[in-house]
Amino acid sequence: MKLKRAPEYRRLLLRTRPKRYVNLFRTIYERRCRSIVEIGTWNGVHAEEMIRTAAAHSDIRSVRYSGFDLFEDLTDEQSSSNSPSAPHLSSGSRAAGANRRLIRGNTRDTLPRATEILRNADLVFIDGGHSIETIAADWMAIRDVMGPATTVVFDDYYPNAGPELAGLGCHSLIDQLDPGAYAVEVLEPTDEFEQSWGALRVRMARVTLVRST
Ligand SMILES: C[S@@+](CC[C@H](N)C(=O)[O-])C[C@H]1O[C@@H](n2cnc3c(N)ncnc32)[C@H](O)[C@@H]1O
Repeated sequence: MKLKRAPEYRRLLLRTRPKRYVNLFRTIYERRCRSIVEIGTWNGVHAEEMIRTAAAHSDIRSVRYSGFDLFEDLTDEQSSSNSPSAPHLSSGSRAAGANRRLIRGNTRDTLPRATEILRNADLVFIDGGHSIETIAADWMAIRDVMGPATTVVFDDYYPNAGPELAGLGCHSLIDQLDPGAYAVEVLEPTDEFEQSWGALRVRMARVTLVRST
């Protein structure tokens, strides 16, 4: 079953909230990603959209999705039989037909053991634990195995972060990446959320290996 390509994709971009998530779908659509890894699946709502976007260019059965999460807050009812699950990825969902795999556990343990999945990924979305330490550990597991065709998208880039965000987000990691080794784009749009301390601004960042000539 194929997504009705361009019209449905354009509708997805128009309805996407928070707005910065358009970057995820654009990356999958424009780079024709079929093998997707999400670090921090949560309830699977964006996983489903990513799978559907990947299916715009090929049969949904050729799309592979691997989701890593603690999956500890799901009720037994939400989980399918004995395996960890997420409601939006259940067998009745619009993402049905894709090859889906959910890996439960702390990514500090699960990612270093998942080199085969990471090595073959077209897109890795890093959106799990938000502490600098966890993001750095997730990135290191990916960095060591990513190939020239892998695009890594980070959520939680906080531009001009103040003391309220100390210890959180990927901005310090992204800003320190070696430009000789990595092509880095900090993407628009910026989402803005009012907090008791002021405006929380969030962007996504996209990283690939610099192509050697
Ligand atoms: C912001 S939510 C992810 C949202 C999701 N990517 C989306 O776009 O809808 C963060 C998720 O990361 C998971 N998480 C946080 N720390 C983690 C860790 N160390 N290992 C695995 N999962 C973790 C949480 O359980 C939560 O579901």
